[in-house]
Amino acid sequence: MKKPKPPSPAGPPGETDPSQQPESLDACRRCDLWRRATQAVPGEGKRRARIMLVGEQPGDGEDLAGKPFVGPAGKLLDRALADAGISRDDVFITNAVKHFKWELRGKRRLHKTPGQREVQACMYWLERELEQEQPAVVVALGATALKALLDDAHARLQEHFNKVTRHAGRTVLATWHPSYALRAPDTATRERAYADIVAALKHARTLASGK
Ligand code: URA
Repeated sequence: MKKPKPPSPAGPPGETDPSQQPESLDACRRCDLWRRATQAVPGEGKRRARIMLVGEQPGDGEDLAGKPFVGPAGKLLDRALADAGISRDDVFITNAVKHFKWELRGKRRLHKTPGQREVQACMYWLERELEQEQPAVVVALGATALKALLDDAHARLQEHFNKVTRHAGRTVLATWHPSYALRAPDTATRERAYADIVAALKHARTLASGK
C-alpha cells in the first residue's frame, strides 16, 4: 500500500492538459486530480464480465490501496452482491473518476464530489473500459456514475432508478451509491437503500443472463 501524498493544498507543479491522450493512467494529466491523489485507481475484476459496476471515485482507502471499492462502501457492496447472488469475482468494478478528490478536515482526507469537468475528462478512461469489457449490463452506483454513463450532466437518479436505459448501445441501470446506504441519517432509510441496491443488482443479474 502506498503512503498518501502530504496534504499540500496545491500539490506538485505540472501541466494539466484536457486534450491529452495518455497511454497510461499514471501519465494522465487530463484534469488536476492527479496532483493530490496517491495514485490512479483503475477498474478491476473479471475480464469481459457480463456485469460492470461503476462508482463515483476512489475513497481514502482505495487511493492508498490502488484498488476500487475496498473500504467501507466496498464492504457494503460485497454484502449486497452476495445477497443478490452475484460473486464479486464475476463482475468488473470501476469508477467514473479514477483519482481521489479530497479536502483536509483536521487530519482526515474527506471525499469531495468530483466536478463535471473532472468527470468529463475521465470519460476517456471509462470509455476505454467499456470498450474493452463489453458488459451486457452496466450498473451506475449513484448520480455521478449515471451522468458519466449517459453523458448527461442533468441525468437524475430518480428517473433512471432500477430502470433499463439504453444509451450508446449499452444497457444501463442505476441505483444508490453504497455510501448512501452507509451514511443516510436514519436506520430505516439505510435499510431501504440497501434493499434497493440488492434489487438493482438482482435486476442486473437477470438482464445479464439474457432471461
Ligand atoms: N466509492 C466509490 O465510488 N468508489 C470506490 O472505489 C470507493 C468508494
